[in-house]
Amino acid sequence: MFNETELLMTGGSGLLGGEIKKLIPNALYPSSNEFNLTNYEQMEKFIASHPEIKTILHAAAFTAPPKCEEDPISAIEANINGTGNIAKLCIKHDLKLIYVSTDYVFKGDKGNYKEDDPMSPINKYSWSKLGGECAVRMHDNILVIRTSFGPVPFQYPKAFTDQWTSRQSSQQVAEKIAKLTKAEEQGTYHVGTKRRTVHEYAKDISPDQEIGEISIEDIPMPMPVDTSLDTSKYEKFAQQTNQNE
Ligand SMILES: NC(=O)c1ccc[n+]([C@@H]2O[C@H](COP(=O)([O-])OP(=O)(O)OC[C@H]3O[C@@H](n4cnc5c(N)ncnc54)[C@H](OP(=O)(O)O)[C@@H]3O)[C@@H](O)[C@H]2O)c1
Repeated sequence: MFNETELLMTGGSGLLGGEIKKLIPNALYPSSNEFNLTNYEQMEKFIASHPEIKTILHAAAFTAPPKCEEDPISAIEANINGTGNIAKLCIKHDLKLIYVSTDYVFKGDKGNYKEDDPMSPINKYSWSKLGGECAVRMHDNILVIRTSFGPVPFQYPKAFTDQWTSRQSSQQVAEKIAKLTKAEEQGTYHVGTKRRTVHEYAKDISPDQEIGEISIEDIPMPMPVDTSLDTSKYEKFAQQTNQNE
């Protein structure tokens, strides 16, 4: 039986963390000062002082793709070594590990990616998230969630018309992650909505906003064309869970 007080989430101050807090209010959300991914000893002491913790929902990361291109060392430290530290902690203390991964682990040349499709990132942020996934998979008791989300309203004046995605609002994705977490699912799940362009996504979440058009060709870093996800495994899980509720 899932018990909120047995869950610790990293990245609680972030966009996704803010939404998860509303859905699982009694979990533990240590700050990055108290529980820093790059400080294994600090995290181990924290876990020792909270023996009730049975699961870590790991969403903390160095998240901005352009910054990862400029500063790959920080991306390695937080997303690869930091997630490696979380995986070591979970293996050593027999904790379940839930990892928030990204649709960007895929190359983006076909779309509708299934959970077991081969991964081949095309930029440094995405490589660092795949590096994190590799460490997570050294543990047996895991749930890997690949997704894409953003804040409401849409934050930019223009949106890509030539990039396809399964992106949803952070609130919608948080609801799905909370559902998987509470059901104590294991394995890999793709979470999101139907394939659409980023521009269509932006108009959906901000219908009254003027949103211009832009191409991924205009961005000075490699961007995947189509990382939309096949979310049928999640939809089947949700349908079964709703029937049993
Ligand atoms: N946004 C997306 O479109 C998207 C898509 C797919 C996957 N994801 C993944 O989803 C997760 C959450 O993303 P988000 O957009 O909610 O993140 P965010 O708003 O950028 O917040 C990042 C979080 O990570 C924490 N953090 C960063 N470095 C840390 C460190 N060294 N030690 C401990 N905590 C650290 C930050 O803490 P401070 O505030 O204290 O710095 C903050 O809570 C990430 O793993 C991201 O890769 C995001």
